[in-house]
Amino acid sequence: MLGSLLSVLVCFLVMAPSMTPWFAAGDVITCAGTVPMRYRSDKISITDFGGVGDGHTLNTLAFREAIYRIQHLRRRGGTLLYIPPGVYLTESFNLTSHMTLYLARGAVIRATQNTLNWPLIAPLPSYGRGRELPGGRYMSFIHGDGVRDVIITGENGTIDGQGDVWWNMWRQKSLQFTRPNLIEFMNSRHIIMSNLIFQNSPFWNIHPVYCSNVVIQHVTILAPHDSPNTDGIDPDSSSNVCIEDSYISTGDDLVAVKSGWDEYGIAYGRPSSDITIRRITGSSPFAGIAVGSEASGGVENVLAENINLFDMGIGIHVKTNTGRGGVIRNITVSNVYVENVRIGIKIVGDVGDHPDDKFNPNALPVVTGVRINDVWGVKVQQPGLIRGIKNSPFTGICLSNISFHGVAGRGTTPWKCSDVTGGSQGVSPWPCSELMSTHGSGSCSIY
Ligand SMILES: *[C@@H]1O[C@H](CO)[C@@H](O)[C@H](O)[C@H]1NC(C)=O
Ligand SMILES: *[C@@H]1O[C@H](CO)[C@@H](O)[C@H](O)[C@H]1NC(C)=O
Ligand SMILES: *[C@@H]1O[C@H](CO)[C@@H](O)[C@H](O)[C@H]1NC(C)=O
Ligand SMILES: *[C@@H]1O[C@H](CO)[C@@H](O)[C@H](O)[C@H]1NC(C)=O
Repeated sequence: MLGSLLSVLVCFLVMAPSMTPWFAAGDVITCAGTVPMRYRSDKISITDFGGVGDGHTLNTLAFREAIYRIQHLRRRGGTLLYIPPGVYLTESFNLTSHMTLYLARGAVIRATQNTLNWPLIAPLPSYGRGRELPGGRYMSFIHGDGVRDVIITGENGTIDGQGDVWWNMWRQKSLQFTRPNLIEFMNSRHIIMSNLIFQNSPFWNIHPVYCSNVVIQHVTILAPHDSPNTDGIDPDSSSNVCIEDSYISTGDDLVAVKSGWDEYGIAYGRPSSDITIRRITGSSPFAGIAVGSEASGGVENVLAENINLFDMGIGIHVKTNTGRGGVIRNITVSNVYVENVRIGIKIVGDVGDHPDDKFNPNALPVVTGVRINDVWGVKVQQPGLIRGIKNSPFTGICLSNISFHGVAGRGTTPWKCSDVTGGSQGVSPWPCSELMSTHGSGSCSIY
């Protein structure tokens, strides 16, 4: 008894120096260090403010009053707003600092489909206009501007955008302004979103913009594959964003790291940096892991690893454009499995799509230091397409241990590359000659 106690103690003493608390659970690295989790002793329920979860009653006032109470009573340690099981229909609302929005199992916060009353807000300065249409944009369904220490979590309750009315307006070209995101945080920090289901967003699902220290984990994001522009998670001009352990199946890119659009993004000059994306599974007709195409403030230090993609348009997509400016550098993607994909890896500088004709054609983006390692793909129609920019060729594009297998009986097409230098090792099918240029030296010297 004493002996075993002693050996446990010795073992602990021996191991302790190398242990970091958040690695302890079976050596799985998580986002826990990015934002501290907070316990809130002050708790209120939406039903205390007249909330009714019958799916019909409009709960806008209940949400606004509950959040007004949190904002103005300012209880020490913040306040938890509990949403019991039920379907709570509401118009859009703003969050405040030091709050937890807690959705019980079976709780649904559902957006109204009254698009006429939807509040409009100013365009983002780094976009200069709405992403879809000139002028302002509809406020996100759940919105946080200038807040900190906000947690949205619970027991996998649902935030439902009921986006089909918006998708139909887009299809019929009857939209007046840019569609709302499902949830947007602007100018905010220390944000956690976990154990939630997001479904049927009108536009992008989760949009942290001008934020720092954001954690998104254990979320499920669902929208039909034919729903327009329903990106999963778009970290935009934000730093220290950590996304992990989530399932995303939508109609557009699953995760796309952005930083503003052409001359507006260049002038605003706020990059996205230190973005970690890990253990994501998903499916989409567009890209799994994307950088861009709006990247005018620059994107650096992105690490995406342990990604499983099924029935995809493109596995990994770095996309920019003449007129965008911005430096995209130090992007690492590793341990990716793709199955049934049109293009495995696509890195291009000609996506088009300008906010207006005032963009500077001499504002050439720089793409340098993109490492893609340990990728296995089956049913891959085209392994790779890398198209740099003539006067700003992509450099340091380094590929290693990549194996793409074609569709049975048809094989794959060859790699296609232009205006790019880099290196490759252990890539099959054999990559283009441009990616042999710095093998064993220079920017791919890690080999
Ligand atoms: C919510 O926030 C937006 C943007 O900060 C602001 O324009 C709007 O007035 C706020 N709405 C309410 C009801 O407080
Ligand atoms: C919520 O769902 C995620 C993903 O399916 C799962 O990992 C997590 O354990 C669930 N959480 C709860 C509280 O049920
Ligand atoms: C490159 O990005 C990684 C994260 O993927 C980071 O750990 C590393 O410090 C960055 N390197 C430089 C030189 O900034
Ligand atoms: C190559 O990548 C595969 C994943 O596709 C991985 O399982 C394997 O360990 C990698 N090999 C090396 C030598 O790193």
